[in-house]
Amino acid sequence: MAIINTSFGTIRYWSIHDADALAKYANNRKIWINLRDGFPFPYTIEHAREFLAMVAQQNPVTFFAIATPEEVIGGIGLTINTDVHRFTAELGYWLAEPYWGKGIMSESVTRFVGFAFEHFGLVRIYAEPYATNAASCRVLRKAGFELEGRMRSSVIKDGQILDQFLYAKINQQNPI
Ligand SMILES: CC(C)(COP(=O)(O)OP(=O)(O)OC[C@H]1O[C@@H](n2cnc3c(N)ncnc32)[C@H](O)[C@@H]1OP(=O)(O)O)[C@@H](O)C(=O)NCCC(=O)NCCS
Repeated sequence: MAIINTSFGTIRYWSIHDADALAKYANNRKIWINLRDGFPFPYTIEHAREFLAMVAQQNPVTFFAIATPEEVIGGIGLTINTDVHRFTAELGYWLAEPYWGKGIMSESVTRFVGFAFEHFGLVRIYAEPYATNAASCRVLRKAGFELEGRMRSSVIKDGQILDQFLYAKINQQNPI
């Protein structure tokens, strides 16, 4: 079921029928290199099924599929924080490589963040792209995120120590 209609398709709930497309597109080193190690590489059909089973148990659901009318082409989701940070969430996303450079993620992040502020009653959504990920930083800026800082040497990815940028967007309709 769609939560957002977009120019290319929808942002919608994941379905068990998405496993094949998910495994096909997520199995990409160029995607893995920009994400946490919890996102596996190689990404097998078993990984896809495990992810879909996890999402099916989520309450509330915070991970969504980015899809054309034909198939899933990516994912977007939130990790909602706890305790004094419970009005904040971290945003994550990835897109299948054949679809890069068409404006799909700029549209997806812009629309999804608007939805998420309202749906989850959040005050702040942030993302922590690696400093090497210029395309993701550009997506965040186009979606209205502001650069708040550079977290130096905060990550080890593929044996390399990297900096992260901290980008955040504040809900102008304060829900509290
Ligand atoms: C990052 C990613 C989500 C971008 O998705 P996308 O749909 O291709 O992004 P868009 O087409 O909406 O916008 C990309 C922007 O970055 C720019 N860009 C792309 N590569 C770039 C680079 N190497 N340096 C600078 N800008 C770059 C594009 O020109 C475009 O900006 P513009 O519209 O002003 O021309 C996609 O490449 C991806 O899934 N990467 C792997 C996973 C990942 O990085 N996830 C985010 C982790 S924080």
